[in-house]
Amino acid sequence: MQGRCRGDDERVKNIILCGFMGCGKSTIGRRLSYKTEKEFVDMDAYIEEKAGMTVKEIFEKYGEEKFRELETEACRELSEKSDLIIASGGGTLTFQENIDILKSTGRIVYICISYERLCERLKRDTRRPLLQVENRNEVIKELLKKRTPVYEKAASVYVDGNFTSGQVADIILGILY
Ligand code: S3P
Repeated sequence: MQGRCRGDDERVKNIILCGFMGCGKSTIGRRLSYKTEKEFVDMDAYIEEKAGMTVKEIFEKYGEEKFRELETEACRELSEKSDLIIASGGGTLTFQENIDILKSTGRIVYICISYERLCERLKRDTRRPLLQVENRNEVIKELLKKRTPVYEKAASVYVDGNFTSGQVADIILGILY
């Protein structure tokens, strides 16, 4: 199955893409933005611009907790806007508060891709603080195990992300419109 959808929500204004680091949220988000003419916002980039430093620098200087505060602040601010395509961070939806905020004005789409593909895509990453460890693939496996049920529960649209970004964007549009 390429994708499926559950329920419907009249209040929907934004589309929020969620899923593990490296699943393609930003690339697919840009595609969707191009196809729908809605503005695209990458939540990490939004946080970086406001903080004047990279996510990696925020983690190094102030720790993960501070980053999570900024992330929740970003959820609040972006939820007040409408007609956005938002790529959330891989950890954003691990906090119920963020799910509630984002869901209040948006529809959450979960992009699911295989563990093997994630490891392949993330093997050279130097940008994501949580992956700068020796046992990267084990960390990916553990986090994926913990987070998969969280993404599944939060999202009302599920899409198989093991296709090209253009194909995944088309599958999402086919489900949503
Ligand atoms: C994180 C994912 C990252 C970024 C930060 C933490 C996570 O976003 O928000 O490094 O906890 O999974 P991407 O999913 O866009 O890489």
